[in-house]
Parts: sequence; structure tokens; C-alpha cells
Amino acid sequence: MMVIRPETPADYMPLRRFIQNAFETAPFCSGAEAEFVEGTLRQKERYIASLAFVATEGTELIGHIMLTHLAVQGRKNLKMLLLAPLAVRADKRRQGVGSRLVRYALQQAKEQGFDAVALAGNPAYYGRFGFSRMDGFGLHCQSAVPASYALVLALKENALNGPCATVIF
Ligand SMILES: CC(C)(COP(=O)(O)OP(=O)(O)OC[C@H]1O[C@@H](n2cnc3c(N)ncnc32)[C@H](O)[C@@H]1OP(=O)(O)O)[C@@H](O)C(=O)NCCC(=O)NCCS
Repeated sequence: MMVIRPETPADYMPLRRFIQNAFETAPFCSGAEAEFVEGTLRQKERYIASLAFVATEGTELIGHIMLTHLAVQGRKNLKMLLLAPLAVRADKRRQGVGSRLVRYALQQAKEQGFDAVALAGNPAYYGRFGFSRMDGFGLHCQSAVPASYALVLALKENALNGPCATVIF
């Protein structure tokens, strides 16, 4: 049976290898996802321990997801999160593990009072959770991510209304 729980420091080492393996088979992969987690996302200004989750089956790690603080220049009061990375063990894919992790993390973020979630990902996958292009809300993404892959989801009604602003991934 699959269980979702917050990650703990004891998970960090196994997660490094887990994330590396998962992204080896990803359509887009920088090869630096594990470093990004450790060097950037788990740093004090970004990390939210209550919004980083592992999915386990018995003692085995089968999935991982993180939501971390994301700065939005021009909308200072918008409590935005970045969803990254999302990873499911290759032999456990297409069984709904990724969707359950996404839905669980979004629900927790909503309950913790955050306004919105941004990510760089395939709209064919993330559309099912309600994500759509951030430029549709006047949000410009400052990175090499194509506009059709720079996505956002409001967790509160009208949370994304506001002046043009820049999201820095
Ligand atoms: C993307 C990933 C997390 C999906 O996990 P999963 O547990 O297989 O997801 P689910 O079972 O909930 O959903 C599977 C569905 O998503 C689709 N899907 C999976 N990855 C996709 C992708 N990159 N683009 C578009 N659709 C995708 C599958 O075709 C499947 O569709 P179907 O149900 O209509 O057949 C997993 O494939 C993975 O870890 N990939 C490598 C890492 C990665 O690319 N992460 C995403 C970074 S944004």
C-alpha cells in the first residue's frame, strides 16, 4: 500500500540517487535535478519541510514531490510556490502515483494558506490538475522555459489577478 509522508533528513541521501535515476528517463533532464534540490530548494529561504513529500511502499521509496517558496517580482504579496521536482520510480509509473502526489501536495499547500503554484512542465500532464500558462495571468517567466511549459495554478479564487510580474524559477 502506498503511503505519502513528509520527507525527513534521513531521506535526503536515498532521494539524491532516486531523483537522478528518475530523471534519466525524463523527456527533459538537465542532469542536475538532485543538485538543484540540495543546493537550492532545500536552502533556508526556499525550503518548506511541511510541503516536501515522499511516497513509499513498505520500506521502498516510489515517489517524491516538493513545493518550495518562489519569488514573484512585481507581486510582493503573492504567496507563490514552485512545484519541482516530481519523480516516480520508473517501474511504478502510469499507476496514478504522480497524480496522487500532486493532488496531495496541492491540497496541503492550500490548507497552509498559499496562494498559487508555478512549475515548468508539460501542459499535457499538468493540465489535468488545472495548471495553465502563466502568461495568461500576466506572469512572465524569467528563464529558458518555453511559454507553453511555464504553468501556474491558483489555490484561492482570484489569487492570480494583478499587475504584470516576473516569476524567477
Ligand atoms: C512525470 C511522472 C512524475 C508521472 O508519474 P506517474 O506516476 O506515471 O503519473 P500518473 O500515473 O499519475 O499519470 C500518468 C499519465 O501521465 C502521462 N505522462 C507522464 N509523463 C508525462 C509527460 N512528461 N508529459 C505528458 N504526459 C505524461 C502518462 O502518459 C499517463 O497518461 P495516461 O494516464 O493518460 O496514460 C513520471 O513519469 C516521472 O517520474 N518521470 C520522470 C521525471 C519527470 O519527468 N518529472 C516531471 C518533471 S516536470
